[in-house]
Amino acid sequence: MTNRLWILLICVLTAGSAKAEVTFAREVSRILQAKCAQCHRPNDIAPFALNAFEAVLDWKDDIRRVVSERTMPPWKPVDGHGEFRGNFGLTEQERNQIIEWIDAGAPFGDEADLPEPLPDTGEWVLGEPDLVLEMPEAYTPPRGQDMYRCFVLPTDSDLNRFVSAVDILPGNRRYVHHVILYLDSSGVAEKLDADEEGPGYTCFGGPRTPVAADASLSALLGNGIGLGGWAPGTRPTPLPDGVGMHLPPKARIVMQVHYYARGGTGPDQTKVGLYFSKGKVEKRLMFIPIVPLDSLGRVSMRIPAGADNHEIKAEFLVPPLLDAHLVNIFPHMHLLGKEIKSEVVRLNGRVTPLVYIDKWDFNWQGAYSYKEQIPLPAFSRIRLSCTYDNSENNPRNPSNPLKTVTWGEGTEDEMCLVFLGLTFDRERLQ
Ligand code: HEC
Repeated sequence: MTNRLWILLICVLTAGSAKAEVTFAREVSRILQAKCAQCHRPNDIAPFALNAFEAVLDWKDDIRRVVSERTMPPWKPVDGHGEFRGNFGLTEQERNQIIEWIDAGAPFGDEADLPEPLPDTGEWVLGEPDLVLEMPEAYTPPRGQDMYRCFVLPTDSDLNRFVSAVDILPGNRRYVHHVILYLDSSGVAEKLDADEEGPGYTCFGGPRTPVAADASLSALLGNGIGLGGWAPGTRPTPLPDGVGMHLPPKARIVMQVHYYARGGTGPDQTKVGLYFSKGKVEKRLMFIPIVPLDSLGRVSMRIPAGADNHEIKAEFLVPPLLDAHLVNIFPHMHLLGKEIKSEVVRLNGRVTPLVYIDKWDFNWQGAYSYKEQIPLPAFSRIRLSCTYDNSENNPRNPSNPLKTVTWGEGTEDEMCLVFLGLTFDRERLQ
């Protein structure tokens, strides 16, 4: 080979290596594993799996579209308002790499670069739970209306136990609108169930069980919500070490399922998976709701018919002695919601953003867990602001003709709510 040819070859080689091509094996497979595969895997909520190269090729045009339009992955919190664990939003670099890769003809690359395949965790994304509780028989909600139904799931244990993560597998994703898990140690829920025909009992508003004498503050404040809930899009995140949700001996989980069987109905048999805390638990996770109140302290809100940018505000003052740390936050509105934002204002005036969702989507709700727990010293004010579009320009508006919308549990009512999942600084369990 002549000298000149050598130089040419070296130029070509170095030009190629200056900007390494994005390949499936090296970059894209890793991005998909980290940001897509938890839903895009067999038997989960996404309609197809994105684990194998061939599947990804089949979907590449759609992937390019949804990634550019930012509709996938459906991570809702805006960056800079809370740092969350398990954030499955794409970084700018990841988004660009996916697009660049597809535009370059989606090259596979070198097989040796492939990451280890993700473990197959079966139908539960966190793997097999320590305890699975299931509705004893299937229930078919009545067609054409909202139905709140409570199902009693005995836990059958004499032990005080702590739960680190809860996952819920709706039996019928078309009609299950949300699920909240209450706890009952009184036995009242079983009586209510026995008094009513069919599986479970109707429980609009709450499970109608008494707040037990040993009830924690969370039961009083959080209406007895013991183990959190599920709404479309919620992904389970284990609690930090040392924090657990308390499951008292012989507790029954009262699972409130909100069915919205407008267009049709079908049988549902929802399952709950519990993952127990592994290490020593020092603090219980409590749930505190922040909601708009009127001057008499009643939950109240009103969105006029036709208003397309109506704001509702709420505020909560951390009481003296109840200094707390915020572990996670669950924002909630219904179909008119546009934006929801929460922040904490400390006594010294310092403001820390808690969460901000600027494009609310009822189909993608989550409990967001902080990377570092956020201190909420006594006398801090937690502010909540919700914005709604109750005009005919909102394609999701369920009311035709338009109507003034108030607080309520029905799909056509609204809510402006965050649940704060927190621990109290003074608590030390033995
Ligand atoms: C939290 C769960 C979840 C994550 C994470 C997720 N998806 Fe999806 N994806 C879904 C669900 C559910 C659907 C079907 C319903 C829908 O389109 O909203 C879907 C649909 C899609 C579609 C078809 C949409 C259409 O309009 O045809 C594409 C393409 C897609 N996802 C790509 C991705 C990619 C790429 C990632 C990661 C960068 C990702 N998704 C992450 C749940 C998820």
